[in-house]
Amino acid sequence: QAFDVAVLGATGLVGQTMIELLEERGFPINRLYPLASKRSAGSTVTFKGEEIEVEDAEAFDWSLVQFGFFSAGGSISAKYAPLAADEGCIVIDNTSEFRYEPDIPLVVPEVNAHALADFRNRNIIANPNCSTIQMMVALKPIQDAVGISRINVSTYQSVSGAGKEAMEELAKQTAGLLNAREVKPDAFSRQIAFNAIPQIDAFQENDYTKEEMKMVWETQKIMGDNSILVNATAVRVPVFYGHAEAIHLETHSPIDAEQVKQLLSDAPGVTLYEGAEQFPTQVSSACGNDMVHVGRVRNDITHPCGINMWVVSDNIRKGAATNSIQIAETLIRDYM
Ligand code: A2P
Repeated sequence: QAFDVAVLGATGLVGQTMIELLEERGFPINRLYPLASKRSAGSTVTFKGEEIEVEDAEAFDWSLVQFGFFSAGGSISAKYAPLAADEGCIVIDNTSEFRYEPDIPLVVPEVNAHALADFRNRNIIANPNCSTIQMMVALKPIQDAVGISRINVSTYQSVSGAGKEAMEELAKQTAGLLNAREVKPDAFSRQIAFNAIPQIDAFQENDYTKEEMKMVWETQKIMGDNSILVNATAVRVPVFYGHAEAIHLETHSPIDAEQVKQLLSDAPGVTLYEGAEQFPTQVSSACGNDMVHVGRVRNDITHPCGINMWVVSDNIRKGAATNSIQIAETLIRDYM
């Protein structure tokens, strides 16, 4: 069995990675339709050694495909996902547009694949936020073992999460400043080179950013537990690929760091770094692979039920493209 597949946002960072990964993972594809805006229509992408022309999404006939991977932005998904779904295409949406609708599954396959049972509700499945995905993969075994009551998390997120232009801004500012030129922010609200910016996405009424609140809302939905409290600070750092997170969690009953390491050493999707000095980083561990890397696991010396850890993953792969494709692979395996 092979499928016809559309990738919407095929010229973007996530879309391009999706096309590479569909090939790398041997996803059962009959025909690939790369879609973008009018601007890129007629350009080409390479898939399995073949040049395939990018089409304008506006003119696309969605009845041609069984799967649509969407990553062109929330408003684009709002416009095209219902159209595609009505034509019988299963939409796997990487934007936040549908994540909080109760009848739309929000899925990290290692964590809540069972939620996919509802995929026919709307024919749309939401891919979670990149920072949430890696945190869920790392915390699920602990939630299952002792229950998590509260998560304090600070993120160190790369610029690739903000798209191609944001990556160029970091490169240009870095080169500019090293050459003593003046730089001015554009894609970010402050200078990103040699700096850290505690703002990702828009500020909300409660003074948290939307990125921070995504981690609150999505954790509860994915874990299926509205009692988990999440206190997040999301920070953009001058790193090109990969997000890191310092996670401090409180469990319902005490668990020792050694027990946590034991759980994580068997956890699906996790690579554990046991020794304190072996910690993972974005550049040395996470870039270009699909694992969630966990290190610095230690007891919180200020709290009897506290555990600390450092969690790193490639935001474009496991945080976006890989997770979306894993959702489709799980659907094919279990439901089709
Ligand atoms: P395009 O190349 O036509 O602008 P990134 O997040 O890396 O910037 O990528 C955004 C992706 O979303 C690109 O593939 C971009 O295509 C696509 N996109 C942006 N606006 C639209 C639109 N109105 N219709 C379809 N695709 C769009």
